[in-house]
Amino acid sequence: MSWRPAQRRLHWWVAALLLLTLALGFLMVALPFRPLAPKFLAYQAHKSFGLVVLLLVAWRLALRLRHPRPAEDLTIPAWQHHAARLVQAVLYGLLLLVPVLGYLSAASAPAQVETALFMLIPVPHILGPDAARFAVLAWLHWALALLLLALGLGHALMALRHHAQGSGVLRRMWRG
Ligand code: HEM
Repeated sequence: MSWRPAQRRLHWWVAALLLLTLALGFLMVALPFRPLAPKFLAYQAHKSFGLVVLLLVAWRLALRLRHPRPAEDLTIPAWQHHAARLVQAVLYGLLLLVPVLGYLSAASAPAQVETALFMLIPVPHILGPDAARFAVLAWLHWALALLLLALGLGHALMALRHHAQGSGVLRRMWRG
């Protein structure tokens, strides 16, 4: 048994959009305030792709809860399976938490820049501006995003290492 086609597609879409959202996050903060348009557009793109990641991860989790994972590859030692399962659980948690913290910090920002999904669908801010709350949430959003990046890279490197050692774990996520 392998991963379902929908689970495989979602895995790679989430990975690609996560990298794009991270790159936009670093870019938007680094851009100068003048001219304002590129910075504003980078913020809107970051927030939009981040919200899409949140929706796709919720969908992935729903599929994961309905369908059991494929059987373990017995060529991989048991302790590595346990470590991989732990990392994957933390990755799911961070993939949900990081965008939620991003939304809450955008909603708390003293500057109150509106959030509109791809400049089309307005996303209401459920919290009002609060500089102290914004500082804590924005820091947590940044720190957990870096942890997500580090764990995601570790996860990808281990998948490549298993692949190089002849295991089928990467292939079954790629082609089924
Ligand atoms: C997978 C999803 C996300 C990732 C990986 C991510 C990552 C990041 C990173 C790395 C930064 C910090 C850049 C820096 O300070 O150098 C950042 C900043 C920010 N993100 Fe996200 N983000 C995500 C989703 C979101 C969402 C959904 C929103 C809002 C709807 C959002 C709003 C913001 C805001 C407002 C900032 C700037 C905070 C500040 O001015 O200090 N993010 N994000």
